[in-house]
Parts: sequence; C-alpha cells; structure tokens
Amino acid sequence: MPVLLAAIMTAAPAEISPTLLSRITRSVAARLDEIARIGRDPRGGWSRLAFTNSERDAHDLFQRWGVALGLDVHRDSIGNSYARLGHSTQPAVMIGSHLDTVVTGGAYDGTAGVVAAFEALNLLRDGPDLRHRLEIVAFAAEEGARFTTPCIGSRFITGQLSLPALKEIRDVDGITAYDAARSRGLDPDRAQTEVWRPLDVHCFLELHVEQGQVLEAAGARIGIVEAIAGATRLVVTLTGAAAHSGTTPMPLRKDPLVAASKIITFAEETASRYARTVATVGRIRVTPDSPTTIPGEATFSLDVRSLDAIRQREVSAEIVRYAEVVAAGRRLGLAVRVLHDQSPHMLHYWVRQELTATVASTGTPYRVLASGAGHDAGVVGHLIPSGMIFVPSHGGISHSPAESSDPADIALGSFVLAQGIRRLDEYPLT
Ligand code: GLV
Ligand code: MN
Ligand code: MN
Repeated sequence: MPVLLAAIMTAAPAEISPTLLSRITRSVAARLDEIARIGRDPRGGWSRLAFTNSERDAHDLFQRWGVALGLDVHRDSIGNSYARLGHSTQPAVMIGSHLDTVVTGGAYDGTAGVVAAFEALNLLRDGPDLRHRLEIVAFAAEEGARFTTPCIGSRFITGQLSLPALKEIRDVDGITAYDAARSRGLDPDRAQTEVWRPLDVHCFLELHVEQGQVLEAAGARIGIVEAIAGATRLVVTLTGAAAHSGTTPMPLRKDPLVAASKIITFAEETASRYARTVATVGRIRVTPDSPTTIPGEATFSLDVRSLDAIRQREVSAEIVRYAEVVAAGRRLGLAVRVLHDQSPHMLHYWVRQELTATVASTGTPYRVLASGAGHDAGVVGHLIPSGMIFVPSHGGISHSPAESSDPADIALGSFVLAQGIRRLDEYPLT
C-alpha cells in the first residue's frame, strides 16, 4: 500500500504529510484551471448562470472527470450531475457543491467544493472499501443570481420545490426556470420520479470557500459550519408619475426613485441594529430610465439575511411597513412580492461533531463558525443529515472576480473531507 495513502486508511488521528498535501494541491489547481476556462465574462470574472450553456459546459466537464476516474456518471432531469463510486446498496454518502456562478463571479464559490469532492473520493478509493456508497454531486442552479430563488437543483431533487413552482420562477426577461432547463435539454417533468428519498442518503457533506473573514483573521485553515443564515428576498415596486424634469415643480412630483432611496437607507439602518443580520439592495430599475424624465416607476430587490429567523422576518416586515408609510406620504403606488423565504438552518449535530473531531485529529487550526451565505447543504439538510467544511477566502471577498482561496487550503480541506467521510462512514459504529 502506498505510504502516503496510509494516513487516510483509518479514522485514527492523522496529519497530512507535506508530500501528500503538495500532490493534492497540484491536482486541485489543475482542476480549478480547467473549470476556469468555462464561462469567462469579458467584464471580469465568470458568469456561468443557472441553466445557461456555460453552466452546462461545466457539468459536461464534471462528467468527463467522473468517466476518467472510472466512476458511474449520470445527470438527473433538473441538471444535477452525479459520479458514483462502488455499488454498495447501503445509503449513500453524498459530497459536492455547485458549478454555476453569479454575474461576474469568482472562480471558487461552488467549484472549490466540487473539486474537493473529486480529490476526497480519489484519496478514499485507494483505502479499504467504504460501507456506504460514495457519490459526488454537482447541483444545478445554486445561485439566486438569475432566478432569485437559489438552490433550484437541490430544492427540486429533494422534493422541496414543486414542478408548478418551477414554472412560476422567472428571470428578469420573464423566462421560467422550467423553460430555461428545458432549453438546455433537461426534462424537469421527469425529475419528479427521481426525487431523493431521505433514507437513501446517510449524509451530505459540502466543502465551500468561507466567503467571509473569520478563518483568515483567526489564522485557521479549516472551518466547521454550525449554521447557515436564512434569507427573505422581496421585490419592491413603487409607482409614481413620469414627468418632465425641467418643468415639474418639486412639490408636484410623484418620484418613486426618491422614495426608493429613503427605503434603501432605512433598510441599511434597520439591519445594522441587529447582530448577524444584513439587508442588501443589489438590483434597481427605473422607467423610463432617462436623465431628463422623473421616473414613473422604480423596482428594487431586497435581500434580508440573518442567523435568527425572527430577526430575519421582523427586519423584512419593518422595512415593508416603512415603505408603506413613505409610499402613502408621497401618493405612490406600492407592490411588494416575496420571491423567496428560507429560515436559517442549523446543520446536523452528529455530522458537525464528527467533522469537528476529524479536523481536531489532523492537528489543523480550525474554527467552528456560521455561514452568512446560503448553500445547498442548507437545503439538503432539511431532509438529510448534512455538514459543511469551509476553507479560508482571501480578504473574505466573494461573488466578485477578486474572490480567491489558496489551492493548498482546498487540498487540506479535501483531506479533512476524506478523513471525515471515513469517520462518518463508520458512524455510529465507532
Ligand atoms: C449564495 O451564494 C448566496 O447568495 O448566499
Ligand atoms: Mn456557493
Ligand atoms: Mn454564491
């Protein structure tokens, strides 16, 4: 047996050797480079939006990686990709993340977790057979960037998003998620027969870049995620009267953009009062969008997130109440639509415990922390015991071309993931 692999053969405490770490690091960097050739955006970074050709190209690469490793690969009808090791009829240990990005996003969000899953599987396959089947999954359409609703692939395939709901979710051009999937050769009508059954999966593990600064600031190289923030996403439309910017006296205006600016400022002030609660307006549109016309309509998105379900809903409601007051005071129309509402999610206790014990046994500096970003693990975790491993993000930057993580940290994370799988494979026998 190769000496380097002895370290991952058992659940016994094991540090990673420098030789093994540099070997995995090279492999991680090569895979990241390969994915980075797909979906480059001339404006900067990567735009592999949900159900676009570039997202699908990344899934094709996933399939090629699986075939090259001799794994059984397949794709489900909503576009999630799978690569399976072994034929055990025991429930599966599922590992993975996503391959889509936001608009002009980074090279690590999601992709790091898919790459790490391949590295972990590669490490484990050389050891004794696992009791459970090991299966890598790359979820489709995780980012809410195109459809506002995030994690469409994981929600749909775990039965938490219905076919009628898929037909209601639209992008800014009015294209439904259902039609977008079909236009890429997927067949969501069929996916309902493929829905994961909770008892078929032992646990789901997702490695992800932290997208925050906790690990870097603490000098930690691994994070074990305790909880994932919830999100309430609204679209707010204010309707006034388009009019001449030179001839309409100030008191006679019905300007929805000024009202929107007050509401946006209020959202910032309100969220700032509460710990681990944030509010963001990331998209705003005015019509007619002309420098010499008072806008007739202003529409903006509002994304309120918190680790506390009550604060998430109360802050959202407070902002809507303020919007009602502002709109009434200015004689404007107001419409508020809830596009998405997901509570914070506490990851499974025993999975967290085992992952924490694993990382402690490797002697790696680590922190237990919460995630401000949403993840497929937070969706899958409603039905299946799920856990997450974070690796540091330089400067905490994410959803940006400047997003960056050290391939050596992703390699170390892959090793911890492999060790964690070994341990969870034996749970609760150990
Ligand atoms: C996912 O990346 C999110 O926006 O939380
Ligand atoms: Mn992600
Ligand atoms: Mn993201």
